[in-house]
Amino acid sequence: MKPVLVTGGAGYIGSHTCKALAAAGFEPIVFDDLSTGFERLVRWGPLVRGDIADAAALNAAFGKYRPIAVIHFAGRIAVGESVVAPWLHYGPNVAGTIALLNAMRENAVDHLVFSSSAAVYGVPESSPVHESAPQRPLSPYGHSKRFAEQMIGDYCAASTLKSVCLRYFNAAGADANAETGELHDPETHLIPLAFDALLGKREQLTVNGDDYDTADGTCVRDYIHVTDLARAHVDALNFCMQSEARASAFNVGTGNGYSVREVLNAINEVTGRPVPHSIGPRRAGDPAHLVADANAAKGALGWTPIHSSLQEIIGSAWRWHQRERGLLASESAQ
Ligand SMILES: NC(=O)c1ccc[n+]([C@@H]2O[C@H](COP(=O)([O-])OP(=O)(O)OC[C@H]3O[C@@H](n4cnc5c(N)ncnc54)[C@H](O)[C@@H]3O)[C@@H](O)[C@H]2O)c1
Repeated sequence: MKPVLVTGGAGYIGSHTCKALAAAGFEPIVFDDLSTGFERLVRWGPLVRGDIADAAALNAAFGKYRPIAVIHFAGRIAVGESVVAPWLHYGPNVAGTIALLNAMRENAVDHLVFSSSAAVYGVPESSPVHESAPQRPLSPYGHSKRFAEQMIGDYCAASTLKSVCLRYFNAAGADANAETGELHDPETHLIPLAFDALLGKREQLTVNGDDYDTADGTCVRDYIHVTDLARAHVDALNFCMQSEARASAFNVGTGNGYSVREVLNAINEVTGRPVPHSIGPRRAGDPAHLVADANAAKGALGWTPIHSSLQEIIGSAWRWHQRERGLLASESAQ
């Protein structure tokens, strides 16, 4: 088994990617400080508990496991939080990435796949969004991803490093066998928030605006099943190790958009229950329509989404959500 260091592998997308890596014959070595991740999601390889900003801890992990590559997920993810507390984001997302790049250099690890985001585009002039679209992030979170991509590109230009940055659109869904899933706290993503409203864990879901220039007035997003997203990382890793390209960036989405109302209707169909919701004001900086042009990833990586119908995304997320609630009930009873 070829060892791959997975920073943030105890989190949502990282844990699904560890499962995909193990299935593809790699050994995922998770490097995670468990600040928002969970030890119980580390199931496909060892866990090294550490902060990516800690050079000594990184060097020890590189020395012990001798990874052939790094997949870098670790960081803060909530856009709203980044606006009110940018220091929480620039530390791990920028300074942490610098420490990781330096540790890779010192340990002669030359292949990197990085978690970037559609947030680098800000409000795009048109949608579907191509990788060549102007990058005008609107939040410290988006800036941190853009800086990280820039730094990675500069290291690639000046050294033997090769990289693939994957710009995710909206990651959603859960593992088909409910072996891992989404556990964000606080949760900011539409589908788990809707489940919480449906199960009475929150009073209702607030839809952020219904007066956008879209068919039903609510925002349209590109939902990519986390299992498809995880496979994109394995494909990106193979591409990084086999192709001549030094530094690449690919959108990862389906190219299909669904409105908030369409998602709520699909949740009703899958669960048999309506989502209690009300209409709130628009959220600053939300584009009406944000859908990926994912043709570059399909062409270069040979990757294509196969689990990303709204029904499969919601069905898998619902199974995970219900299982988690059962688990939490038995844990709290102990
Ligand atoms: N979830 C999405 O829809 C989405 C969209 C675009 C991009 N991304 C990016 O994907 C990556 C993973 O997102 P996620 O949804 O799985 O988030 P997550 O919070 O579930 O996972 C992040 C992981 O990183 C770890 N971590 C954070 N700071 C760390 C540090 N300093 N040192 C070591 N470990 C640290 C956390 O403990 C956690 O396990 C992030 O970089 C995020 O910005 C996510």
